[in-house]
Amino acid sequence: MNPVDYLRISLIDRCNFRCQYCMPEGSELDYLLREQLLTDEELLTLLQEVFIPVGFTKFRLTGGEPLLRPGVVDLVSAIASLPQTQDLSLTTNGFLLPKMAQDLYDAGLRRINISLDSLVAETFDQIIGNRGRSRWQEVWAGIQAAHRVGFDPLKLNVVVIPDVNEQEVVDLAALTIDRQWHIRFIEFMPIGNADMFNTRGWVPSEELRQRIRDVYGLTESKVRGNGPADVFQIPGAKGTLGFISQMSECFCDRCNRMRLSADGWLRPCLLNETNQIDLKTALRAGIAPEQLREQVRQLLAIKPEINFKQRDSGATGAYTRTMSQIGG
Ligand code: GTP
Ligand code: 5AD
Ligand code: SF4
Repeated sequence: MNPVDYLRISLIDRCNFRCQYCMPEGSELDYLLREQLLTDEELLTLLQEVFIPVGFTKFRLTGGEPLLRPGVVDLVSAIASLPQTQDLSLTTNGFLLPKMAQDLYDAGLRRINISLDSLVAETFDQIIGNRGRSRWQEVWAGIQAAHRVGFDPLKLNVVVIPDVNEQEVVDLAALTIDRQWHIRFIEFMPIGNADMFNTRGWVPSEELRQRIRDVYGLTESKVRGNGPADVFQIPGAKGTLGFISQMSECFCDRCNRMRLSADGWLRPCLLNETNQIDLKTALRAGIAPEQLREQVRQLLAIKPEINFKQRDSGATGAYTRTMSQIGG
């Protein structure tokens, strides 16, 4: 078992995209109101008085789209300057990076993961639910901006959807030949748009690897990141290829993370909807930090059992919250 020391913190449940697999247009989500979000002060209190004392030292900011959170740069700076923060990263759709990459870097952020589901503007716009002027160019500019200001590692996430972008996998993989980027192919999960999942299905990572292997060859890297990805490389390439295979394989036994939603619910596993703690309400009710730490420790103690139970029950399509609400 890995130590559970990595907290994924959702800063906001809203997003400026409507990715079909996540929160497609027409799926009426009840967005959180401003007063329902944890404030910066509450979040920092929870980190300093609850999460850090029980052993969390790695933090990832997610959403929705985390860059839509007002004051996000100051929050990054505050978390980056906590002496116990060993790692701080952010997952974004990249649209606001042309404007914000430098400020985020200056605030102390060093690691960033950006979604890029297609290299073809039309397909990209279709996936993100955009009907206006294409947004591909802005996201590509955002990736370039992140590269230029020095984010390292720079990871690009691709959710692979049959017949939508699966035919681009080899082209996307080829980006790593000359660039020191890490492209990760994510198996489509039945979270968010279950209808789309049921109609389209998903492509096993091994099938993708075979397609890349046939064209470029592929070697398995001995280095494993701190996440769920299995890492491979095109021989001689500057960057790497990660495969996040939550459908075809179970990586729960090496899970090192918990999730805090934007409204302060602590969730022990992406797939778990029953064992959550409402830390915001507890904090606002004046519950002492020691009691909150105890609750988190109890959740940590039962976490391995929760993971396996969920997988063993084979639950699919049963999740009521989207990635944007859970926090990716
Ligand atoms: P690093 O390795 O620290 O860069 O993080 P990461 O790869 O976990 O971060 P990222 O936010 O880029 O996550 C990519 C995707 O991996 C997510 O959107 C999920 O699809 C998947 N993922 C991450 N964590 C979990 C998890 O605990 N369970 C499952 N089933 N999928 C996960
Ligand atoms: N299956 C797999 N990945 C998903 N994401 C969102 N919804 C799904 C899903 N149903 C991913 C995005 C991004 C992160 C925020 O979550 O692509 O990498
Ligand atoms: Fe927004 Fe990310 Fe969901 Fe796409 S996957 S709609 S970018 S939260």
